[in-house]
Amino acid sequence: MKEKQHEGLLEEKRLFFPPEGFCSKAVIQNPEIHELGQNRTKFWDEQGKRLDWFKPWDTVLEWNHPFAKWYVGGKLNAAYNCLDRHLEGARRNKAALIFEGELGDRRVLTYQDLYREVAQFANVLKSYGVVKGDRVTIYMPLIPETVIAMLACARIGAVHCVVFGGFSAEALKDRIHDSRSTIVVTADGSYRRGNSIPLKANVDKALPVTCINNCVETIIVVKRTGQPVDMQDERDVWYHEVMKNVSSVCPAEPMDANDMLFILYTSGTTGKPKGVVHSVGGYMVGVSTTHEWVFDLKEEDVYWCTADVGWITGHSYLVYGPLTNGSTVVMYEGAPDYPEKDRYWEIIEKYRVTILYTAPTAIRTFMKWGESYPRGRDLSSLRLLGSVGEPINPEAWMWYYKYIGGERCPIVDTWWQTETGMIMMAPVPGITPLKPGSCTIPFPGVHIEIVDPEGNLVPKGEGGYLVVREPWPAMLKTVYGDDKRYEDTYWSQFGGAYSTGDEAKWDEDGYFWVIGRVDDVINVSGHRIGTAEVEGALVDHPSVAEAACVGKTHEVKGQAVFAFVSLKEGIVIRDELIDELKAHVVLKIGSLARPDDIFLTAELPKTRSGKIMRRLLKDIADGREMGDTSTLADVAVINFLKKNIDAQK
Ligand code: PRX
Repeated sequence: MKEKQHEGLLEEKRLFFPPEGFCSKAVIQNPEIHELGQNRTKFWDEQGKRLDWFKPWDTVLEWNHPFAKWYVGGKLNAAYNCLDRHLEGARRNKAALIFEGELGDRRVLTYQDLYREVAQFANVLKSYGVVKGDRVTIYMPLIPETVIAMLACARIGAVHCVVFGGFSAEALKDRIHDSRSTIVVTADGSYRRGNSIPLKANVDKALPVTCINNCVETIIVVKRTGQPVDMQDERDVWYHEVMKNVSSVCPAEPMDANDMLFILYTSGTTGKPKGVVHSVGGYMVGVSTTHEWVFDLKEEDVYWCTADVGWITGHSYLVYGPLTNGSTVVMYEGAPDYPEKDRYWEIIEKYRVTILYTAPTAIRTFMKWGESYPRGRDLSSLRLLGSVGEPINPEAWMWYYKYIGGERCPIVDTWWQTETGMIMMAPVPGITPLKPGSCTIPFPGVHIEIVDPEGNLVPKGEGGYLVVREPWPAMLKTVYGDDKRYEDTYWSQFGGAYSTGDEAKWDEDGYFWVIGRVDDVINVSGHRIGTAEVEGALVDHPSVAEAACVGKTHEVKGQAVFAFVSLKEGIVIRDELIDELKAHVVLKIGSLARPDDIFLTAELPKTRSGKIMRRLLKDIADGREMGDTSTLADVAVINFLKKNIDAQK
């Protein structure tokens, strides 16, 4: 437990109440809502009614530990809930997506427009043989066609696997392979700070030259940047060509509530990313309820979630939650500092954004750039701010509150995970007083605890492992193709509760303070990276014998990757080697995993049984006093590292 670093947190006693005018108009004003949520099945049974069902469910929950079935017997379609049901009334011509490209191009799609394009693309997918249950990999920039492709899959019951466009060809290959996708939707390239990143070329690299079995038969390419691409006859087609003259009549497939909606890969403690599976019914109820209540959503809101759809935040709170709720969603393709450091504030001013949902790492970056950028823009339309992805330190919280929210906007700090699918802890802003740095309390109908290693509840004022005690509707169904890994990873410790991998404390008021991961996962700028994945990438380099990675505390990114590497016998250290190793990680995983530091060492500190002691390496990376070294096989190794790394600082 990282006691020392975080012991100040519980001393944060400031309380913030939403302005009076906010509470009296809030979606949820009933202070007893959390109590009502304690009757979990009744609560979620009630919330199920917010969706349109082709057939109502018979039983709200069947819980066969650790496998849950929600809304059993119910039939629905996620795309139908996001689109068709809004077409009858005034929402038909409401903006569903307001897209702003990095270069300043703009596109607005109404619910009717989005419906039409989704239905057409669904017919395109069908014409390429995609049927219910098939997997479709989507490797795209943050543009409307990405949302269209996701919803088109959902419409016909295909399972989408979105792979973040920042992942390398190698990482994409593993995900295509694991999901056994036969079709890939991509773009020629994507813009980033004025440069273009080759997406189609990465797909080409990811795919084998000859097809043996289960291989990709079709690649549909959206023209975004106009950069040259190789189009292979028979296999590759342009999106704009295959969409020509396609019918916009495509009935939504009635899906069983427990059918798969999507797979999303995330890092775990082993080298192989896990395909987290979400199913239609419970997921849609969970994201719709939390999106409305946590963001206090009103019909006229202009809601902007800055996440990329390649991550769960994009899935749940840029696509499925907001569109199910009929909101207007702003979507921005590019970087926050392109062309200037006030791009976010310009977008808020331009579209009169009312709700902003972003990450602490972005807020800390803005803090570094200074308040003159937000001050130069009119941010008076904002009425609520959200945070997600990593702990928000009280300083960043206060800066966000003051300079972005003008001291009038409640901040909802939302704790959740790829696996939880929906927000699990957050304020319900009309009724929950806020404490800077705390995600406050569990959402109604969600049962979270902090426990000791045996699974016993720890008293208030103390810390331990964060677990979820009872099933919740948007919980992952399994790890794709690996029920055992699902069971072992999430449900085998802590007396059968769901293990989040996080540690947290709770205070005397029952507020939760999440500290961070306790497993071998590093959270870099809100993105999860497995130490084992980075180590695997390093060891793949011909010069490397062994590698150990830890998360080093970083002012802006939260954590950064610090790698300790030992070289193979006879390898001569060259000046370029460190850069070469970093480039190798980028090649294998993507630039998000690039180590900030690589330290070459003859040996890594190990226990007598040969286990690398990452805990001590983390102490060294953070420049802290080292913890207990008594189980080390050779204490000289760690002393050498400490001395040399301290000397470099
Ligand atoms: O450690 C927690 C951190 O992000 C992890 C989940 O990462 P991922 O599955 O990529 O999903 C991120 C977006 C939901 C968690 O185990 N985390 C997420 N939100 C918060 C957080 N840590 C503290 N406070 C949060 N609000």
